[in-house]
Amino acid sequence: MPAWVRSGLLLSVALPLVACTGSQSALDPQGLQSEQIRHTFMMFLAVSGIVWACVTVVLGIGLLPRKRISDEPPGLRRPFETRAGRMILGLGAATALIVLVLSFVSYAGQRTLFAKDPNALTLRIVGHQWWWEVHYAADSPHNSFATANEIRIPVGKPVKVELESADVIHSFWVPSLTGKMDLITGQTNEIQFTAKNPGIYRGQCAEFCGLQHAHMAFAAIALRPEEFERWREHENQGATSPSDTLAKQGEQLFRGRGCALCHTIRGTLAGGQLGPDLTHVGSRTTLAAGTLPQTPAALGAWIADPQHIKPGNLMPQMPLQSGELIAIIRYLEQLE
Ligand code: CUA
Repeated sequence: MPAWVRSGLLLSVALPLVACTGSQSALDPQGLQSEQIRHTFMMFLAVSGIVWACVTVVLGIGLLPRKRISDEPPGLRRPFETRAGRMILGLGAATALIVLVLSFVSYAGQRTLFAKDPNALTLRIVGHQWWWEVHYAADSPHNSFATANEIRIPVGKPVKVELESADVIHSFWVPSLTGKMDLITGQTNEIQFTAKNPGIYRGQCAEFCGLQHAHMAFAAIALRPEEFERWREHENQGATSPSDTLAKQGEQLFRGRGCALCHTIRGTLAGGQLGPDLTHVGSRTTLAAGTLPQTPAALGAWIADPQHIKPGNLMPQMPLQSGELIAIIRYLEQLE
């Protein structure tokens, strides 16, 4: 076999498998609901595959050259008519049966997908162009806090996410954990899911919502229950005062240069409501809704020119000297 045929064959087999695993794959489920979705998908794929193969084989047989049996038109031959009638009846019944079975499979799957657990951990997420505002609710207001562009959830515990939108329609989707649910203005939608394995999964807005729709991602981090409790305890605290001079200078600049007009840092005077809560921004894994990794360099690039990185977003470019920028980066990265 020539080498190009071999590599072509290999590529055609390997290509469809490229997206089957990873942190954002519905075919590599890490949650109860995504497992159910893959199961339903595989059932549909298998049945459709078998039907497709049968049709192709019959079509192939029909295309084979064969000798003429008689000059009489087929419709006038009685036995042919009877056979054709039976075949059409049989195939019609088989089609109805397949549709019925697939409907049942789909219905049974939805029972798992839409099951409600009254003891689920509740989160509220508000979609914005183009970031995610996240609220952890608790029995007492002292235990409720806000964060952004990242959710942390305990493994093995059902999580209920209430979804709202501040502007246009967005869609919440963590393929590794569950299916999609829209965020619509003036309406609260709900989705429940349970992570089975610890890990960092990628969530993505799945409804076109404007220029930066593709840059509206988030991290869904599934932690062991005790780790989650530790994180929640810590996240509930306000920011600690910076210890070094550079960070202290950064804190003052953060307030003085207008950052605090849009961003909240709990425990400080910064209380802006327009942009993401930055109280523990230093401990998040990404910046600008999954657009950049969380590193001092990326943080600097983002603050220096947010419109270059994510054109159309609401964050303006602030006139900062390089020393001032370094101080603000230092302040933000120590907000863990
Ligand atoms: Cu939000 Cu697409």
